[in-house]
Amino acid sequence: MNLHTVLLDRFKAALINIGAPENSPAPLAKSTRAEFGEYQFNGAMALAKILKQKPRDIAEKIVAAVELDDIAEKLEVAGPGFINIHLKSQWLGEQLLEAYNDERLGVEKQQSQTIVVDYSSPNLAKEMHVGHLRSTIIGDAVVKALEFMGHNVIRQNHMGDWGTQFGMLLAHLSDKIASNQVAETALSDLEDFYREAKVRFDEEDGFADRARQYVVKLQGGDAHCLSLWQDFIDISIKHSEEVYKKLNVSLTRKDIMGESAYNDDLLPTVNELVQKGIAVEDQGALVVFIQELANKDGEPAVYIIQKSGGGYLYSTTDQAAIRYRCQKLGADRTLIFTDARQALHFKQTEIVARKAGFISEQQSYEHCPFGMMLGQDGKPFKTRSGSTVKLADLLDEAVERAEKLMADRKSDFSEAERQQVAEKIGISAVKYADLSKNRTTDYIFNWDSMLSFEGNTAPYIQYAYTRANKIFKDAGANSDSFTASIELQSPQERVLAVKLLQYVEALNLLTAEATPHVLCSYLYELASSFMSFYEACPIFKAGVSNEQKNSRITLTGLTAKTIKSGLELLGISTLEKM
Ligand code: ARG
Repeated sequence: MNLHTVLLDRFKAALINIGAPENSPAPLAKSTRAEFGEYQFNGAMALAKILKQKPRDIAEKIVAAVELDDIAEKLEVAGPGFINIHLKSQWLGEQLLEAYNDERLGVEKQQSQTIVVDYSSPNLAKEMHVGHLRSTIIGDAVVKALEFMGHNVIRQNHMGDWGTQFGMLLAHLSDKIASNQVAETALSDLEDFYREAKVRFDEEDGFADRARQYVVKLQGGDAHCLSLWQDFIDISIKHSEEVYKKLNVSLTRKDIMGESAYNDDLLPTVNELVQKGIAVEDQGALVVFIQELANKDGEPAVYIIQKSGGGYLYSTTDQAAIRYRCQKLGADRTLIFTDARQALHFKQTEIVARKAGFISEQQSYEHCPFGMMLGQDGKPFKTRSGSTVKLADLLDEAVERAEKLMADRKSDFSEAERQQVAEKIGISAVKYADLSKNRTTDYIFNWDSMLSFEGNTAPYIQYAYTRANKIFKDAGANSDSFTASIELQSPQERVLAVKLLQYVEALNLLTAEATPHVLCSYLYELASSFMSFYEACPIFKAGVSNEQKNSRITLTGLTAKTIKSGLELLGISTLEKM
């Protein structure tokens, strides 16, 4: 059940009844303060202009026309014409009981679509670094939420496993193997390996030429080159997989559709663009002039799809990828998660692909950009020596810090338990700190605030879960044997009740806009409402009636289940003990 949808439908019907034109604006918002009820319908003001009547008069008419007797106990017109909606406790209680008895917690699925999600997509020439953290975890949270809402999601890890830098890397690897090193050892640290190869490329006589020959041979399908490349790729993928495992991310090998996978599609794609008159020759290269993105002097943006030497580019592969995803996979939506600096590339890519008909009008192409992770100094996050931070190192540090934190807190954990818990708390804190920030803005990475047990943090929400779950378990209540009616008496109970029923609204917004922070904010508010409820509404105290006790235990149980479900979608673990 979706509170927002239920109310909106009733108000839309009322608008028709009072003679408003069809599709009149019908803004319905959550109330910001409890005394204004739970929701507020704000359509009267806009309608006043259309119907040429006073907004308050229209609001009164809507109140008279809207059929909400079963749901609302009171409607009041406030201010210039707001309609405050106070929901009926009994009706809320019935909805909660239904959610409690439903394995989907009352969340209805959306109409199913095929959705391609391109995320993580590290470059295999190098180690994954913090820049890939955001793409990986934001993408994975969106994927999980989309699946939960009933969509057919196709993960696509568009790994950078092709291109000219592989010439230099393979030439270097070939030399290492000739001097009897095994590939695993040579590539144990990809950053070092890349650096060595680059130094040789820049400084060693003849090496750059050899590197270029390797590229040509690789693209020509030379067996020796391909097998070196395969070794390189395999080892590098293993590095990524270790990080995925630590991060509890759902990507597997079968989700890899790297740049190399499109190699055979590049020529046909380019040909199609030329035949359709979209790409033209310009100084030996093939380019698309994009008039839609002209600069202020009216000069069109230039989008290169083939270099003058015949080489293909990142953009060529992305055209081939759109063709494949939209035509072969039948993607209704394609979501791509990269940092905001690639925004222009994807805008151009979409314009060109639409002109070429690679993507139809009904299909959407959504670049989902994210901001940068910054250090305390507000500059891009780096190690003390100024190099990029490896993701694996960052996660190890998170676990170490969580261990220290645990040592400071009294607990009856065994050593092994403590280690496990520290791992869950540390990794969750890093993930949550990132996921909870508005996706599009930069944010400052701060160990202390992310590991705090107060505020919008993973530990705070995990702790709320652990507590709610324990109360629920201690009460001997489980979903099969426990059915109670829910009675909402105190204001804290009502606030918690309405919050619980708004889970679906958070998920709908998340899936529409690819914004996991919406779910984080929701869970934080839910956890806070639970804490206030828990303080104000005793459960096991003398004098609490049996009905009241059962009702509160049910609310507590639904809270635990909802937090667990939400955290699971975010890829964050819950703990039975903390
Ligand atoms: N490998 C790229 C990078 O690290 C991201 C690829 C994103 N996906 C795409 N279809 N271009 O920047």
